[in-house]
Amino acid sequence: MMSTKLNPDIWSENSRIVNDALVIAGCDVRDLAREFGTPLFVLDETDLVTRIRSWRNNLAENFQSHSGNVYYAAKAFISVEIAKILASENVGLDVCTGGELAVARAANFPAERIEMHGNNKSESEIRAAIDYRVRTIVLDSLHEIERVARIAEEFGVVQRVLIRLTPGVEAHTHEAIATAHEDVKFGFSIASGAALEAARKVRAHPSLKFAGVHAHIGSQIFDTGPFELSTERLIEFLGKLKNELDLLADELVLGGGYGIAYVDGDDPIAPATMMKALSMVVDKECKRQGFSSPKISIEPGRAIIGPSMTTIYEVGTTKEVRLENGDNRRYISVDGGMSDNIRPGLYGARYMAILANRNPETRNVKSRVVGKHCETGDIVISEIELPSDIAPGDLLAVPATGAYGRSMASNYNHVPRPPVISVVNGTARTILRRETESDLLALDVVEKARKIEGVGR
Ligand code: LLP
Repeated sequence: MMSTKLNPDIWSENSRIVNDALVIAGCDVRDLAREFGTPLFVLDETDLVTRIRSWRNNLAENFQSHSGNVYYAAKAFISVEIAKILASENVGLDVCTGGELAVARAANFPAERIEMHGNNKSESEIRAAIDYRVRTIVLDSLHEIERVARIAEEFGVVQRVLIRLTPGVEAHTHEAIATAHEDVKFGFSIASGAALEAARKVRAHPSLKFAGVHAHIGSQIFDTGPFELSTERLIEFLGKLKNELDLLADELVLGGGYGIAYVDGDDPIAPATMMKALSMVVDKECKRQGFSSPKISIEPGRAIIGPSMTTIYEVGTTKEVRLENGDNRRYISVDGGMSDNIRPGLYGARYMAILANRNPETRNVKSRVVGKHCETGDIVISEIELPSDIAPGDLLAVPATGAYGRSMASNYNHVPRPPVISVVNGTARTILRRETESDLLALDVVEKARKIEGVGR
């Protein structure tokens, strides 16, 4: 008997209520919780693969011979196994630190499909990237142009580079995740002339090969409008590069940032709609500029991994409080919180949840789902209607936690970070194990103080 209808925009494709519990890809979450403990990230691996293919195929169909790569944004969530899945699906990888690159290396991810980002890459990160022969480094500052040029020269290679631009587009998303207006740390401003100056500098270095430009306007964006505007400005800039510096771009990377549904009513853009809209702009603007389109690439992170994962928590305590307006609010404490999902606290992000281990026997009441950390702001869902009989031992499932959940997890209060369990067709396997208290203690050192000699003495 079905009790809850799951919104397919929010839940992964193989999530269902079967009889009275949530089943993901044939695995009953009660069994998963018993086997692996809670909190738990459950990855619906087939759903992930469907999304990878959907972005890849829609890019290819809409841009045809001008389609470049889908570079999955590793920051959303990466692990060795995810990198292997991406590699076998023939997509690329956007890494922005040495750590993300290390995961790619550990997975033997093909270097010719890696792009390295970062607004302040360290010398050692640049070295590691060039040493692995990543295809592209995206340059973010004047200092970095010199740094990458010098290191490429040391390695005796000509490094393919893109220039990151700020096209001055205001995207309607949370301020902390909007990236392409003028007053940001990222990239070179088109409007101020910095971008043109950067291209001139790149051209002057024999160890750098100018390959094109990049922009990322922000994250969790629902309209095509800001993406279209940004694309227009980038192509207009490519026209300038051609006319003023005689530089032709081989690749144009349009960033990521496509929004996903977290709660009912969120209306994400389908990959087909997004790619169609962008291909029309690219077509029109390239015609206007009088050159044929460079290869078009994109960098979705959230839209690929976000809806594929669901967090399973166990309820530990509940209580009722009386609000000033006379209403009641039911607090439901789960065994995770801000250490596995900082997004509500950091961005005011909204999530939904369901009772996952049984049918409710009572009506819904106004509830707040909170974590186990020692602060009031440790809220998973600020306001939600949940069954009034939810009690200790029940399981709550929070969908769409794949992006920026585990990847932004912390050890606040010395809470070990949850595992990621991949489920397919009734089978489950760990792809990232649960942290243990010994993992946490492994960093503690008892050491005798030693004198520090150096320039200061
Ligand atoms: N490309 C670049 C250069 C980026 O900076 C980002 C994300 C992406 C691609 C992927 O964006 P996506 O498709 O995942 O939206 N922690 C925030 C999101 C920060 C995104 C940072 N850059 C959150 O939890 O909402």
